[in-house]
Amino acid sequence: MTARIIDGKAQAEALRKEVAADVARFTAAHGAAPGLAVVLVGEDPASRVYVASKAKQTVEVGMRSFEHRLDASTPEADLLALIARLNADDAVDGILVQLPLPKHVDATKVLDAISPAKDVDGFHVVNVGRLSTGQSCLVPCTPYGSMMLLDATLGKLSGLEAVVVGRSNIVGKPMAQLLLKANCTVTVAHSRTRDLAGVCRRADILVAAVGIPEMVKGDWIKPGATVIDVGINRVPAPEKGAGKTRLVGDVEFASAERVAGAITPVPGGVGPMTIATLLANTLIAAHQRRGLIPPDFFAALDARLFG
Ligand code: GUN
Repeated sequence: MTARIIDGKAQAEALRKEVAADVARFTAAHGAAPGLAVVLVGEDPASRVYVASKAKQTVEVGMRSFEHRLDASTPEADLLALIARLNADDAVDGILVQLPLPKHVDATKVLDAISPAKDVDGFHVVNVGRLSTGQSCLVPCTPYGSMMLLDATLGKLSGLEAVVVGRSNIVGKPMAQLLLKANCTVTVAHSRTRDLAGVCRRADILVAAVGIPEMVKGDWIKPGATVIDVGINRVPAPEKGAGKTRLVGDVEFASAERVAGAITPVPGGVGPMTIATLLANTLIAAHQRRGLIPPDFFAALDARLFG
């Protein structure tokens, strides 16, 4: 068997089109486009690339982008003061503070300073609590995007056995909550899990979010399973020339695609969905902050996944 490749690039493009059409309607109705503020502290090269991409795509769908690039030595108090200003700024509907933050900054304190209504990352403890109690909330982008890919690949997820490898606050835990909300039977596995391969082999849906290049092998996968690879790891690629690198996921793609029913590639799978979902969350926040109901697209998605 050769797995169907889940085309995250095409799905993300379709979502951006949907968002752009609604941004145009919103802007015509309210006289101002939704606005997303992105805060980058320091010079982490990968973070700089992500933030530049976010800003570019924000503008492409017709939203306003506010970029704040701060020096790595910026005191925590200055960052908190900036967030307070963005919370109070009516032009800003969404606030994202790029992680990781420098060591001298308490990331939890910073994330919890963001107004929950503008928390388009869904990392504020209020949104985390709302998600874990099944209430509507802003949902973390990568898990939300992964659920959209599962919706497009499998339709109803109810009753399926799902295994999430990784327990981060950004991906593993919210992904598990969403799969549970979709009536899957969910196992969260991690570095201390005994017989990790055996646990993975039970999964109809296997989500790999550990940050270890190609850790999940083909023989860890149940034949026909759907594999969502969240990992984006840069590894040396001497075959391409001295000093060259390539991107790989947390799943060993070559062996996995011979067993799985469907699989996300890296790059071109979950990655493109993350930014598209961030734009969707900004549009949702812009509506909800004004007491408006977000576009039907999202209610229909929720009904399919969780209804
Ligand atoms: N760094 C890596 N992934 C993310 C994300 O989803 N949001 C933020 N804010 N920072 C990240």
